[in-house]
Amino acid sequence: MPNPDRPHVVANPKPRDLPAPSVEEPVDPVPPLDPPSDVAAPELRSATGRPVRAAATTRAQQGAFLTTATGTRLRDTDHSLKAGRRGPVLLQDHHLREKITHFDHERIPERVVHARGVGAHGVFVSNGAAAKLSRAAFLQADVETPVFVRFSTVLGSRGSADTPRDTRGFAVKFYTSEGVFDLVGNNIPVFFIQDAIKFPDIIHAGKPEPDREIPQAASAHDTFWDFVSLHTEAQHHTIWNMSDRALPASLRTMEGFGVHTFHLVDAAGDTVLVKFHWKPAAGVHSQLWEEAQLTAGGDPDFQRRDLYDAIQNGALPSWTFGVQVFPDTEDETFEGIDLLDPTKIVPEELAPVQPVGTLTLTANPTNYFAETEQVAFHPGHLVPGIDVTNDPLLQGRLFSYLDTQLTRLGGPNFDQIPINRPHADVNDMLRDGFHQHAVHTGVAPYKPNSLDGGCPFHAGVADGAFLEVPSPVEGEKVREHPASFDDHFSQPRMFFRSLSPIEQEHVIAAYTFELSKVTWPQVRERQLAHLALIDERLCAEVAAGLGLPAPTPDPDVEVQDLAPSPALAQIVPGATYPVAGRTLGVVADASTRTADLQAVIDAAQAADLLVFVLGPHAGVADAADGTFAVDKPLYQVRSFELDAVVLTTATTPAADVPSRRDAKVGSPDHRDVGVDPRTLLLLSELFRQGKAIGALPDAAPALVQAGIAEDDPGVVVREDAAAVTEQVLALVAQHRVWERLAPLG
Ligand code: HEM
Repeated sequence: MPNPDRPHVVANPKPRDLPAPSVEEPVDPVPPLDPPSDVAAPELRSATGRPVRAAATTRAQQGAFLTTATGTRLRDTDHSLKAGRRGPVLLQDHHLREKITHFDHERIPERVVHARGVGAHGVFVSNGAAAKLSRAAFLQADVETPVFVRFSTVLGSRGSADTPRDTRGFAVKFYTSEGVFDLVGNNIPVFFIQDAIKFPDIIHAGKPEPDREIPQAASAHDTFWDFVSLHTEAQHHTIWNMSDRALPASLRTMEGFGVHTFHLVDAAGDTVLVKFHWKPAAGVHSQLWEEAQLTAGGDPDFQRRDLYDAIQNGALPSWTFGVQVFPDTEDETFEGIDLLDPTKIVPEELAPVQPVGTLTLTANPTNYFAETEQVAFHPGHLVPGIDVTNDPLLQGRLFSYLDTQLTRLGGPNFDQIPINRPHADVNDMLRDGFHQHAVHTGVAPYKPNSLDGGCPFHAGVADGAFLEVPSPVEGEKVREHPASFDDHFSQPRMFFRSLSPIEQEHVIAAYTFELSKVTWPQVRERQLAHLALIDERLCAEVAAGLGLPAPTPDPDVEVQDLAPSPALAQIVPGATYPVAGRTLGVVADASTRTADLQAVIDAAQAADLLVFVLGPHAGVADAADGTFAVDKPLYQVRSFELDAVVLTTATTPAADVPSRRDAKVGSPDHRDVGVDPRTLLLLSELFRQGKAIGALPDAAPALVQAGIAEDDPGVVVREDAAAVTEQVLALVAQHRVWERLAPLG
């Protein structure tokens, strides 16, 4: 326990502002506790969109006493009703049957794709720049629109890890005054297929293989590579998946893309074509593959925890919403790029992203199931001023999302679930069905009618009606695609050649790793032939890693040398990014001076970093002149959790080291050097992951034992704790110490 007469240092005084529980079970009845301040719930609305004036917790459980589902108070939930103490259970026990029956039916089917996800509430504020392009009310100047955002992985099951190599979903539900607009995008701007009819194929290939149901949440297996190597339009998305983009450091550091081209329609009915972009204020950053693998084992919930923690601690994630704008020409191409082909991007150098507003995530959900699991996105949820195009992938999506909810959410009334309710009047003539929450009035849910006074009425454009863009359509019925969809290799080549050298190394490593997991040599060879078309060096390096000869490029496939697009590289020499919400570990033990520890914490928290004190054991630990609260003991912490570390001490081996209870302690030799072996492991991992390392002079022996020199890049050793921290923060602003990761030659 801290001694009130000595200094006691605490980095995280209140992880969540919930009342502290008593050690004993409480017995005095109290009503349900208020939720903590970092959460919000769906706005109170009727099933037909009207605001409801009531306390935010009106929909939560009520009263101090346990009841049945129908509100009858219960005096016991620990014993079934039996015929005698040792007798059989009686069928009349309604409470038993209700409790078990409800439990038996608690699960709903997970999403067929994007099952693993995390959501947050937020607000979108328009800057008005899009007002000249679209009549959408939420895009007019200074309009604030509530949103719910769900990020997801694609392939894994609901309980899978957060950090596989995978595309991430970036779905935003705007509750606009004109109805719900869903932008259901990804963190990669292209897609595997050009026609939605192939979606079941790519997903069947990417999901665990059907005979043994492995591997979970991974593309490194035969069926995925079999499909993408036979289906060359997938090569562009695949190379993005082999890049750092598929390993986001945090959901807060991901770019988002609407992928398809959409129409914007102004008040006069004039149209432009646009592609939507989300640019993260924190910059685009990724994990290294080693980190992603460590994370999947050490903390499979890492990215949801990171998002929750950031919001709870006030480091509110934010993105600029932007559009690339193209003239709505008859051929729907821009600079020779077919805007209906979802396997193509338009380089930002050709069409800059114009900012139209800012998204900020402001609150965590109150209840995961009610909100994040039950939210139902749909690309067909459009508002006046935004319309779809004939992109054949988008067209199929317009069917699929509505259809899938019937199974997942149990019927056609899923739009009435609180998180899905619009913030606009609903008068839809849809009636009845499972889980109907509206209590409709009237007798005439049909049109035309006179019995309900003719209501509901058709709206004119002046009344805010949605108007499809009246694009002319003609043609024969064919199962074909346009010739402009045929070039599958020029943009993958442009992507690879636009990356920084470090990112290129990561792409080479990713292909090599993934293809090494493919068991059929024929599939490896087929994919290598495609890499030869993308870039000969890429192909040669991957082939070397696989122990195969590099094939020569197929002379019959024409691949263009497009100009590189610098905007595609995420590692930009010298660039710095905000550090708010990044994590710093501070190593301390019984030789630490509390003033030094406090100075590090203060300097880091002043820059809105999340600070974790790493100590010899959980709870309160001794310092040289006081005590400190340990957030993560050395036996628990792992490098992937930290962006940087500051050592106030070299750490003498903690009490559990001699027993080697913790396998990370390693061989007995480590004990002899007088430094806790977990500190050395942490340092060596952080060092090879290119993370900043700061140390006070007392900690120098730990650096020496870890093989780290004081003048190595990204290593800061100074007397002054605050000054060390400042320098470490400057390095964190670059995301990593890139010199340590620079590729050879
Ligand atoms: C550009 C291409 C695509 C993108 C960007 C995309 C994005 C997404 C995202 C972000 C989600 C998760 C939504 C959430 O968080 O709840 C999702 C789910 C889903 N997607 Fe897609 N998707 C694409 C293509 C397709 C296609 C072509 C189909 C079907 C033809 C499809 C069918 C589905 C289905 C059925 C779900 C599950 C929806 C649910 O259960 O709520 N997607 N998609």
